[in-house]
Amino acid sequence: MQLVFSGIQPSGVPQLGNYLGAMRNWVALQDRHDCIYCVVDLHALTTWQDPKQLAAQTREMTASLLACGIDADRHILFNQSAVHAHARLAWIFNCVARMGWLNRMTQFKDKAGKDRENVSTGLFVYPNLMAADILAYKASRVPVGDDQRQHLELANDIAQKFNHDYGVDFFPVIEPVIMGVAARVMSLRDGTKKMSKSDPSDQSRINLTDDADAIAQKIRRAKTDPHPLPEAPAGLEGRAEARNLVGIYAALADSDLAGVLAEHGGKGFGAFKEALAERLIAHLAPIAAETRRWLADPGAIDAVLRQGAARAAAIADPIVAEAERLVGLLRP
Ligand code: AMP
Ligand code: TRP
Repeated sequence: MQLVFSGIQPSGVPQLGNYLGAMRNWVALQDRHDCIYCVVDLHALTTWQDPKQLAAQTREMTASLLACGIDADRHILFNQSAVHAHARLAWIFNCVARMGWLNRMTQFKDKAGKDRENVSTGLFVYPNLMAADILAYKASRVPVGDDQRQHLELANDIAQKFNHDYGVDFFPVIEPVIMGVAARVMSLRDGTKKMSKSDPSDQSRINLTDDADAIAQKIRRAKTDPHPLPEAPAGLEGRAEARNLVGIYAALADSDLAGVLAEHGGKGFGAFKEALAERLIAHLAPIAAETRRWLADPGAIDAVLRQGAARAAAIADPIVAEAERLVGLLRP
């Protein structure tokens, strides 16, 4: 059975893009695979975090994952910094990856922007740590949103260069698992930008803990165009906002663009938005309630993370110890 690994930053309460692009797929993969899911607090440190907030947000993300249906008994759920193997392997990968490879990462260019000289060096080597997360378990299937594809290609380049440089066949090839019609959920205010926690406008996103009123209001105000919905997916060409809302609906209805348009094509956005808000509320309300239940008991969240870290370390420690031996590090 192929091992599944994925990570998510502890950015507090997740937004709908995290849920449809990642978390929901993580839940689905649990039926057919052994899964390891990680709240990547070391990745969060690449940009400034208030220490108290970081710990709280790590618990919040864990609570959301449990509420969405991650089964921490049958699978493994933990926070990255609790398993030291990640940082150890990341250092080796810092020495395997080439500057030129990292210079091509579009997420770094986006995040650093004009402030390139002033961002942390951690932000630059972020993809090396991500490669270490996965390869410390020799995991081969990695469910992510579409925006992470380039990082996984880099992880494969690192794995291959390691194998080549040390004359071994140690690390496996990683396969991205990009699932669903909503692999890229866009901002509700601008169909060309992805929905993100870091967007200054809360109106641009649905948070997994938004209540029914907030969801209905955000969908009602979501940017659209004046035309009715088309009858077929080709009619969504050049209509980014319409494509986004139909995509979200399709994901929630376990349908596809054609299926949704067969039902709603020809309608104006008023009626469609009402139906969409109804689906969102029905889908997210139980998750919000379950998240609140977990958050009321931080001790229980910590117990889940502790148990997950112990089980994760039992897999990663021997693999990373072997990688260290292969490169010639002495363990006297
Ligand atoms: P992040 O919060 O950036 O750590 O992202 C966690 C996961 O959510 C990754 O697999 C991302 O690809 C996914 N993700 C984040 N934003 C979106 C979005 N707007 N649409 C689809 N997937 C997303
Ligand atoms: N970089 C990923 C993101 O921003 C999060 C992540 C960290 C991850 N380590 C990972 C995803 C390992 C998959 C596998 O979304």
